Amino acid sequence: MRLREGLVELEVPEGEGVFFNPRMKLNRDVTCVAVRALGRVDFLDLLAATGAKGLRVAKECDARVHLNDLSKAAVEVIRRNAELNGVEVSVSCCEANLLLRSVKGCFNFIDVDPFGAPVRFVHNAVAALPSRGFLGVTATDTAPLCGVYPKACLRKYSALPLRGELCKEVGLRILLGFIARECARFGRGMRVLIAHATDHYFRALVEVRSGRRRADDALEKMGYLLTCRRCGERRYERGFAPPSGACGCGGEMSPAGVLWLGGIASREFAERMVELAGYLSDPRVTKMLSVIAEEAGVEVPFFYDLHQVGRRLGTGALRKVEEVVEGLRERGYRASRTHITPTGVRTDAPREVVEELAGG
Ligand SMILES: C[S@@+](CC[C@H](N)C(=O)[O-])C[C@H]1O[C@@H](n2cnc3c(N)ncnc32)[C@H](O)[C@@H]1O
Ligand SMILES: [Zn+2]
Repeated sequence: MRLREGLVELEVPEGEGVFFNPRMKLNRDVTCVAVRALGRVDFLDLLAATGAKGLRVAKECDARVHLNDLSKAAVEVIRRNAELNGVEVSVSCCEANLLLRSVKGCFNFIDVDPFGAPVRFVHNAVAALPSRGFLGVTATDTAPLCGVYPKACLRKYSALPLRGELCKEVGLRILLGFIARECARFGRGMRVLIAHATDHYFRALVEVRSGRRRADDALEKMGYLLTCRRCGERRYERGFAPPSGACGCGGEMSPAGVLWLGGIASREFAERMVELAGYLSDPRVTKMLSVIAEEAGVEVPFFYDLHQVGRRLGTGALRKVEEVVEGLRERGYRASRTHITPTGVRTDAPREVVEELAGG
């Protein structure tokens, strides 16, 4: 099957076992726009499958690109697709971790886009980056990260996930926390350029820089979230000691973590991406990036889902997200929508204020 995505054409074979997911277009779109925002990079598409992402980066950005996949069939498809698009790239057929071991310092952007959990590639990817580099990581193992299989999450990410309205943001922050700790092991710090929780996956793009101070600063952004199922109260605390405590309502607070509690996007970077995304003519990309830029400005971990607020208040119909955001801003709080759910409000206001405004 021949298809067009971004500025490339792709021949996607049916029945040859080479993986292609059209629902990952947004992931590839965001990556291409981010690389455009970064300027010239040496890009490694570590797990390239049909080459969709790496070839788009080669065509749409200022980048030297290498694509790799363990599957011979995939490498054939990548070569054909490179030719089809007239892009000059290099291609290899290696086991990803072995390749990473042999390319130290060669690529300042490494993209890790595996089936399921990315955890077994992150260590070597961080080690392979030069003293300043960029790491893109996709995780499609949403069931562990969103708390459906907490033991699997503990095994893979050494973190306790959460069920309920904040499960996606917690999952994204578990992934980011995992990356931050892997960076710290090499005396490297991490800064999030943009991260999102979309459809059936999580995606993180971070800047990694050498320096023990930077590594310590990143670890200081780690901590736990405590939530009360009864009244919806939440509290987050930095540090590696799991907090405990009862809720004011008498309910029990459940912990989630350890999590990245730092920013999930750089506002300037997201704004720059909004400016650059126009070439894709895809309103979904531009809209998501704008919302992420807005929520980066609020700089608060976690949001309130107005559906859940209404359910707990027992009032049913509630004010619209826009009205609540407006109301919070009028009262001097920071507030925005969130890309994670259309019914969410990210704000530094206390729960009672959100409830009052949301309940009308
Ligand atoms: C989810 S697909 C990549 C999708 C691709 N990035 C895209 O945007 O379409 C994962 C790929 O990783 C390859 N793969 C799995 N394990 C690998 C390993 N250990 N080393 C190298 N490639 C591997 C698979 O053959 C598969 O093509
Ligand atoms: Zn409570």
